[in-house]
Amino acid sequence: MICAVFDAKPYDREFLTRAASGTALELRFLEFRLGQETVFSADGAQGVCVFVNDRVDRPVVESLAEKGIRNIALRCAGFNNVDLEAAKEHGITVTRVPAYSPYAVAEHTVALLMTLNRKIHRAYNRVREQNFSLNGLVGFDLHGKTVGIVGTGKIGRITASIFRGFGCRVLAQDPYESAEWAAENGVTYTSLDELLAASDIVSLHSPLFPETYHLLDAGRFARMKRGAYLINTSRGKLVDTAALIAVLKSGHLGGVALDVYEEEEGIFFEDHSGHVLGDDILARLLTFPNVLVTSHQAFLTEEALGEIARVTVENLTRVAEGKAPLDTTLLG
Ligand code: NAI
Repeated sequence: MICAVFDAKPYDREFLTRAASGTALELRFLEFRLGQETVFSADGAQGVCVFVNDRVDRPVVESLAEKGIRNIALRCAGFNNVDLEAAKEHGITVTRVPAYSPYAVAEHTVALLMTLNRKIHRAYNRVREQNFSLNGLVGFDLHGKTVGIVGTGKIGRITASIFRGFGCRVLAQDPYESAEWAAENGVTYTSLDELLAASDIVSLHSPLFPETYHLLDAGRFARMKRGAYLINTSRGKLVDTAALIAVLKSGHLGGVALDVYEEEEGIFFEDHSGHVLGDDILARLLTFPNVLVTSHQAFLTEEALGEIARVTVENLTRVAEGKAPLDTTLLG
């Protein structure tokens, strides 16, 4: 069975090739994304493998169906870029990888905060230029600080435990509280407003839903402690970036670490170093000395990539053999 793998990066090739070795799966790697202009590249394949920025809308699904594609295999958890209804109508099975390594994301969250707080990124550059001055590199002890975790799912819980290990007091907010987990881990649930008012560090781990869009807006930023740090490794649209820039300019926030950005599509994951950056909001964000941005790399560990590849290959194989995929939540 042939599968066309769209938007394939070197690390996708490496891990998927390893996972598919010894199976009947033949992977055809394509560097560009799936969309109406590129769907012809799926000719001769029975499955396609896509990531977060491939556009699998109704016209693309119809073209895939005409080519005899039986399986759209997402190598990520999110599926907002696939028209599930159209796929169902055309008898195409959509599969995904619902969870890979929550540790990867939680550990990157803490790495971002530690880097920003202790100015490691600035120190690294300075020392390489033989500037051994410490001026401007003062951080704070995490021990004894209050951390607010918004969303206590798989990633939020692991992040909370890591911060507890540093000796932090941890507050949490989630519409579905787990009293047992909170008691066992010394975490206190509060309302979002109380969490924002009391936390020295706020870390977002809630999914993007219509009700969490711009969860942090101008009003909520005003409730945060002066000098507080914000970390977002969840979804860019949880934060109103224009409002964030305003509070950064006013000096209200101490620091901001982002692995995700509202308008990251078409920018993150790609090398734009030779081009003019057309996004003025992102360009402004990058000018603040107390802002650290990584381009959606929190998931990028060997363990997570290995698990993504294993589950994707297993899903493709099962669907080709007429069996149910590992995760059936998208079958409708
Ligand atoms: P999960 O589904 O295990 O947990 C999400 C939690 O958020 C649940 O406890 C849920 O009740 C809670 N929640 C729902 N609505 C909420 C609200 N209005 N306020 C506060 N909490 C709310 O998800 P998991 O695996 O922990 O992932 C969290 C998010 O991390 C994902 O939705 C995704 O956006 C992001 N993510 C980012 C990655 C990256 O590379 N940067 C990689 C993987 C996930």
